[in-house]
Amino acid sequence: MSNKIYAPKGTNDILPENIPLWEKIENAAKDIAGRYGFKQIRTPEFESTNLFERGVGDTTDIVQKEMYTFTHRGKESLTLKPEGTAPVVRSFIENGMSSAAQPVKLFYLTNCFRCENPQKGRYRQFHQFGIEVFGAEDASSDAEVISVAYEFLKELGIKDVVAKVNSVGCPTCRKNYYEKLKAFISPKLDKLCDDCKNRFEKNPMRLIDCKVETCKEHIQGAPLMIDNLCTDCKDHFEKVKEYLDAMEVEYEVDPTIVRGLDYYTNTAFEFIPKDNTKSQAAIGAGGRYNGLVETLGGPKTAGIGLAMGIERILIQLEEQGITFPLENVTDLYIAPMGEAAKTTALKYATIMRREGFIVQTDVMNRSLKAQMKYADKINAKYVAMIGDEELEKGVLLVRDMQTKEQTEVAFGDLPGFLRK
Ligand code: HAM
Repeated sequence: MSNKIYAPKGTNDILPENIPLWEKIENAAKDIAGRYGFKQIRTPEFESTNLFERGVGDTTDIVQKEMYTFTHRGKESLTLKPEGTAPVVRSFIENGMSSAAQPVKLFYLTNCFRCENPQKGRYRQFHQFGIEVFGAEDASSDAEVISVAYEFLKELGIKDVVAKVNSVGCPTCRKNYYEKLKAFISPKLDKLCDDCKNRFEKNPMRLIDCKVETCKEHIQGAPLMIDNLCTDCKDHFEKVKEYLDAMEVEYEVDPTIVRGLDYYTNTAFEFIPKDNTKSQAAIGAGGRYNGLVETLGGPKTAGIGLAMGIERILIQLEEQGITFPLENVTDLYIAPMGEAAKTTALKYATIMRREGFIVQTDVMNRSLKAQMKYADKINAKYVAMIGDEELEKGVLLVRDMQTKEQTEVAFGDLPGFLRK
């Protein structure tokens, strides 16, 4: 039997060769968020379980089926964060950010953990780029948040992604709507799946986006939230659309977007690839959550945000054949020949690194031929050879790996030579 240990199901190593691409995406996220005035926040990888039970909602798939929860020393129940919003809201309250200048605009790049059935684009550990805005109730804030995702995707060159927007109303209009919806569903309830039955009382709107085929058939023709909004919610949604037009964000209204987390009010949206035959999955999603800060014990504060799945963005980049010229270079490889030269090579490498160059030297006791081969493999721009003769003269024989030209350079002149 093999005694090899494998990575847990649904997790991925991000290997060195993929890091430049990850960094490219992370830097684009930081850059876009920064241009809109968002400041970065980092919250812990685990939180009190009841933060998610109360924040995300106890009728959601996340809380019912997907959390990595453990009991700490037999007492406290802790959970690896399945999403970024509830922790940021917790931190907003705990750190008294409601007395800071409003709106408070925060962004994050975080790990998330959900115990789902792994498939392409759906993992047990994945990464999100998210933003949250606190204290802004106006529809312009909804449009601004949606446009962050839109501009982010545009910056990366990702095409054919639609922002699908909807309004899921407020507690007032939802009350009347739920009555209508329940009256429509009631006669068919026993034919629906267990999840639908469980959600019927507490969260009937979720039945609208049940993925089970028979449920879909029974739900067809059900009243939709968007046709039952109160005047305030209707006006708000109209304004969101007007501002999205002004910000040149392409979108479609999709009344079936209801979202799988309980905290949403008013605007809800998802970014879905147009060619949805390959994957059903949203690459990003979010919405307004005007009641969440209060639910988690803070003062009444409007909130809105979104999160993009980094792995799903990578899939889009791959499917759309988008690549970036990613630098993977070594400025200098110092090739010593002999023991004395080796000490000097180590000394020179240190000095050159302090000068800011990316430098490698031999740590394998290789022959010059093997060192040249290695320098080629690591894309070294220059190789500086040092043998007894060079040591005596205090120079290096520098080879330009592209032109193959060789020049004798005094060590003191090397930084200037490489920079020219
Ligand atoms: P969410 O829709 O659960 O929303 O997740 C946001 C995004 O995370 C998804 O659109 C998807 O790209 C990615 N994602 C979710 N689950 C997985 C998974 N198992 N594997 C890979 N990627 C995944 C939220 O998390 C909300 N907190 C978004 C939000 C922020 N709403 C307001 N503010």
